[in-house]
Amino acid sequence: MTNYKGGVGKTTTAVNLAHVFADEGMKVLLVDLDPQASATDFFGLYNSAQSEGCSSIDLLYGHASIEDSAFRTTYPNIDVVPSIIELVDQNELLLHEQTLKFALDDAAGDYDVAIIDCSPVMKRLAFNAYAAASAGGMVIIPVKLDSSVMRGTALTVNAMRSISDALRLPMPKWRILRTCVPGRSTRSEDAGTTVLDNYFPGNQFKTVIHASTKVCEGSWRWKPVVDAFPTSRPAVDYRALAKEVLHELG
Ligand SMILES: Nc1ncnc2c1ncn2[C@@H]1O[C@H](COP(=O)(O)OP(=O)(O)O)[C@@H](O)[C@H]1O
Ligand SMILES: [Mg+2]
Repeated sequence: MTNYKGGVGKTTTAVNLAHVFADEGMKVLLVDLDPQASATDFFGLYNSAQSEGCSSIDLLYGHASIEDSAFRTTYPNIDVVPSIIELVDQNELLLHEQTLKFALDDAAGDYDVAIIDCSPVMKRLAFNAYAAASAGGMVIIPVKLDSSVMRGTALTVNAMRSISDALRLPMPKWRILRTCVPGRSTRSEDAGTTVLDNYFPGNQFKTVIHASTKVCEGSWRWKPVVDAFPTSRPAVDYRALAKEVLHELG
């Protein structure tokens, strides 16, 4: 999950997809690469990550394996490599672009799917995620339709292209996911849809995630909407998205 814009639904999408896949019986690994650590908070792991000194910092900078840095969660089938705020202090320039890819390759036998939640600002951390997605994975770019949707999306796609070229890796498959879509169409929403359709016609999910206060309500209890309100509209949307993702990944 990536977008150089914040507040677009990256973490919401990461935690909801993790739950839907896990409910389907898949073994899920969620890697939190955002120092804001919201995905980590959804699993109540922030304090343990800090007290045990075990987080995505160790995975990326300390040569730790996934096995060493992942926590079991209270949800069966979901393991999480948590993040902590100190990730922001690490020198990104020292980070090798394929560290995460190699660590995930090594853990491939342990999981059916890995979901990586990126920070909107930490570029090289996102490069690690793009490199990891290049081998048969997918980059999901959640967007909220507003006048800055083009910049965030274009920056993200350009960054993905340049890192793939530089590392001579295939460009990962990528799809734009519209989040916070109002129940009724509005003029601004229609204008945004036209822009996206013109610029990125073949790279959008059919599924969109509708806006609902249930998403926010659930997050006060750190519960993803698919778990807290399974019959709500966004929960239904996230289950449809999970199907579409699996279909696209073959
Ligand atoms: N479908 C939705 N409907 C309503 N609010 C949403 C929806 N998706 C996300 N939000 C809210 O938008 C805010 C930003 O979402 P988040 O997933 O944290 O974004 P990001 O990870 O991109 O910064 C959160 O407060 C979240 O609860
Ligand atoms: Mg986030």
